Amino acid sequence: MSSAKLQNVAIFGATGNIGQHIFRALANPQLPSYKPNITVFLRPGTTQSKKASFPSSVRILEADPSDRAQLAQALRGIDVVISVLSGPGIDAQRDLLEAAVEAGVKRFYPSEWGFHNVYRKPGDEWGHIHPLWDQKARFADWLVRHPAVESGRITYTIIGNGDFYDQEWEYIWCAWAQDPARVGPQYKMYILGDANAKVDWSSLDDVANFAVATLARPEDSCNRTLNFPSDTVSQVRIAQMLEEYSGKPVERVHVPMEEVHRVIEDPSRAPKEVAESSKIPVQFWYTVKGCQGMGIGYRPAEFNHHEAWPEVKRTSIEEYFKRKFDRS
Ligand SMILES: NC(=O)c1ccc[n+]([C@@H]2O[C@H](COP(=O)([O-])OP(=O)(O)OC[C@H]3O[C@@H](n4cnc5c(N)ncnc54)[C@H](OP(=O)(O)O)[C@@H]3O)[C@@H](O)[C@H]2O)c1
Repeated sequence: MSSAKLQNVAIFGATGNIGQHIFRALANPQLPSYKPNITVFLRPGTTQSKKASFPSSVRILEADPSDRAQLAQALRGIDVVISVLSGPGIDAQRDLLEAAVEAGVKRFYPSEWGFHNVYRKPGDEWGHIHPLWDQKARFADWLVRHPAVESGRITYTIIGNGDFYDQEWEYIWCAWAQDPARVGPQYKMYILGDANAKVDWSSLDDVANFAVATLARPEDSCNRTLNFPSDTVSQVRIAQMLEEYSGKPVERVHVPMEEVHRVIEDPSRAPKEVAESSKIPVQFWYTVKGCQGMGIGYRPAEFNHHEAWPEVKRTSIEEYFKRKFDRS
């Protein structure tokens, strides 16, 4: 399969937080040898202001990802479907995949863009997967065993990454990404469990560039799960670097694992400022951060694939801080 065969790319979820970065990387690919033709699929009724956020040269189609018949028609001529959907959009990917197979699409990128952990508290005989992770895991289990994948009619690439460290809209999740002018006299970081535990972090743009690079090398990304961390550092180190580069002190709020387990069981115990900081349910935040604090928030080196794609630059958190605080 040559790269020319993955030339026509359809993206679903391009209006979302992560999808905007994937779209921009597709529209401005780092590799001069690969320039895809992009079709952005939006939900029917998408506002004019969301549509206007895309360059006028981009092909935009409106379709409901769960309307299989309409999609199968609209996807004719498309080589790759990239999904950056979330919420109910994850389950809608089943119809999207069936439509893609019917339309002759060659490659499917499901909405993963993360890292699943099995959460266990002391004494548990069984592990638990948070429903937000399980929803994606169930889709991936179905996708990789789909008859059309097994027969080679369609292939898949699943992109995994670390915790996105530059989600500037998440003022607790990414406390360090906040504008220094707005945080007041000091930053405040909630650190759950072991503050020295190694954690995988990813930059949104690095992962977006990695995804595009995997399209440019379709043979190497065929039927694979490829993980791309930008950096692996502890939260202790992040707090130190934040103080060094921002010039502001960082208040560290250490939450012991016993309390993490209690909040996961009863999310109403979470501090109000944490619970209200995000549209993401606070129980999920405690599960992600709790797994990091248990030391399972990074992948061993052999699970990662950045070394096989040296053409994609990785941005360490230190480089991000240097740029953010103008210390380069
Ligand atoms: N590793 C990490 O740190 C991390 C962090 C955040 C997210 N993620 C993952 O990244 C992926 C995208 O998340 P996100 O935060 O970018 O989500 P988001 O901002 O909520 O955006 C979701 C996108 O999906 C569309 N959408 C939602 N429900 C839909 C439905 N029923 N039918 C059609 N379209 C629908 C939205 O379209 P509209 O504009 O029409 O609403 C939007 O374009 C998810 O898999 C998420 O788990 C990973």
